[in-house]
Amino acid sequence: MIRSVVCGYGAALPKRVLSNRELEDIVETSDEWIVQRTGIRQRYIADDDETTASLGEQAARAALANAGLTPDDIDLIVLATSTPNNTFPATAVEIQNRLGMKHGYAFDMQAVCTGFVYAMATADLHLRGGMAKRALVIGAETFSRILDWQDRTTCVLFGDGAGALVLEAREEEGTVADRGILAAQLRSDGSHREKLYVDGGPSTTGTVGHLRMEGREVFKHAVGMITDVIEGVFTATGTTADDLDWLVPHQANRRIIDGSAKKLGIPIEKVVVTVDMHGNTSAASIPLALSVACDDGRIKKGDLVMLEAMGGGFTWGALLVRW
Ligand SMILES: CC(C)(COP(=O)(O)OP(=O)(O)OC[C@H]1O[C@@H](n2cnc3c(N)ncnc32)[C@H](O)[C@@H]1OP(=O)(O)O)[C@@H](O)C(=O)NCCC(=O)NCCS
Repeated sequence: MIRSVVCGYGAALPKRVLSNRELEDIVETSDEWIVQRTGIRQRYIADDDETTASLGEQAARAALANAGLTPDDIDLIVLATSTPNNTFPATAVEIQNRLGMKHGYAFDMQAVCTGFVYAMATADLHLRGGMAKRALVIGAETFSRILDWQDRTTCVLFGDGAGALVLEAREEEGTVADRGILAAQLRSDGSHREKLYVDGGPSTTGTVGHLRMEGREVFKHAVGMITDVIEGVFTATGTTADDLDWLVPHQANRRIIDGSAKKLGIPIEKVVVTVDMHGNTSAASIPLALSVACDDGRIKKGDLVMLEAMGGGFTWGALLVRW
């Protein structure tokens, strides 16, 4: 059967680092509070000349170089983002243009922090359905642009960045020993909208708006939702937590990551954590974390890797891939 196999990865971060200490000058907060409640020590913030499209392009070029491919080899771009450059056209199309691609097709996917899991699952369906041969799946965000920098309950949590994977349709045996995406579970429940949303939009206020969140409410639901979809993927593939080489979670909060791993019985040594360095970069956080763990040699070809995320909507999902 056809599997969508990862053949390259890449990442991009803005030039500017914003430490917790620097945030103390912006809002009434402390390094100690932020570290203790979230595990975040710093985040990257885009300058005026850095956008979701420019960071996404940089991550895409890095992933192509890692795969030994050029834009000519790609026929699909799926960009997960909630912070597009414009309301339309899709920022994926802008990235396609920046890469000099005149062929293929590109679109954005909006599932907030679960965006990258949704984008991977969607690209997988396009590749397995024969619509495309090779896809760039990108998560890119500039959440700094939709933060209320006077709201200490949200502005300390998020950061900017981008990551990308190249997926290629390859013939595999059809077992869990195959390389590639093995299974995914996606969920959403719009009744939780008010707990995490942006208070603007083209069809309502005509403005971009700012992120609003009831942090404690999000926290309350996160671990249960995450573990539910991961267990669903285990059941669908006949695998267990013991089979996993790596859990690569969405990097929202160290306490959510630890709580989910503990509930699933996954030792923390098998969990890739980058929230301390990047903060919550929404749809970019998983490919950024993958990039770090591939660069430092933790994730290797053949490893069984579980991706998971939960975010605004609520949306949540998990995806199992053999690297
Ligand atoms: C946001 C979060 C870190 C807050 O931690 P918490 O333990 O729930 O803290 P609370 O919201 O109950 O606030 C506790 C106190 O800290 C204060 N506080 C909030 N933000 C603060 C900050 N940046 N610095 C210092 N104090 C802060 C609150 O005002 C409150 O003070 P009070 O007790 O005097 O009213 C936590 O709820 C969380 O991580 N939620 C999930 C958020 C998330 O990951 N969202 C993205 C999902 S994709």
